[in-house]
Amino acid sequence: MNGVNGKRRSLLGYKETIVMDLVFATQNQNKAKEIQELLPSTIRVKTLAEIGCFDDILETADTLEGNAALKSQYVVDNFQVNCFADDTGLEINTLNGDPGVFSARYAGEGRDSNDHMDLVLKKLEGVTDRTAQFRTVISLIINGEEKQFEGIVKGDITHEKSGKSGFGYDPIFKPTGYSQTFSEMSMEEKNKISHRGIAVRKLIDYLRNI
Ligand code: IMP
Repeated sequence: MNGVNGKRRSLLGYKETIVMDLVFATQNQNKAKEIQELLPSTIRVKTLAEIGCFDDILETADTLEGNAALKSQYVVDNFQVNCFADDTGLEINTLNGDPGVFSARYAGEGRDSNDHMDLVLKKLEGVTDRTAQFRTVISLIINGEEKQFEGIVKGDITHEKSGKSGFGYDPIFKPTGYSQTFSEMSMEEKNKISHRGIAVRKLIDYLRNI
């Protein structure tokens, strides 16, 4: 692609960095904040609100890959922009990969993260295999062509909630090799090892090389 990361001369003769506008198809401010920290300044991310999209984009696929693609394709089709969307799930081995694609509504529509975590902890009562992974899939559509990127972080479900930062299932997920849950880590520490961090770095590597 022309000039994603390059330089050009302005009318005044100064070299300026060319910025690529990319819409991030999310309404979740926590995710937008996390991802903003990971992206280089040459890529200017626009939120859905900034392009005037306030639609409730349906996530009706039964895989993370399908839902990520549904979201990015919707924005491309309706707003004629380049766009990326992500979908994430907590996959617990002993629950056959649940809550997975249902992570946002595991305890039912309209329930909050505490309810979802309580349900997970209840289902794992007395269970010794507590291994799990967070998996993020990013669907990027540039000039009508889709590419997907995956990020996985493995860990264990704790026996109780610990920590105050982060969101979602962070208080009950302890990444392998760490003694703290995601919720006890700073956003910076979490970004270094997280599923989303890994997927976003793959996205960035790709964008730097097109
Ligand atoms: P989404 O596809 O990123 O909206 O994620 C779906 C659901 O997975 C969210 O509603 C959260 O409950 C959970 N989730 C996603 N990312 C994270 C994370 O980084 N930490 C904890 N929970 C997460």
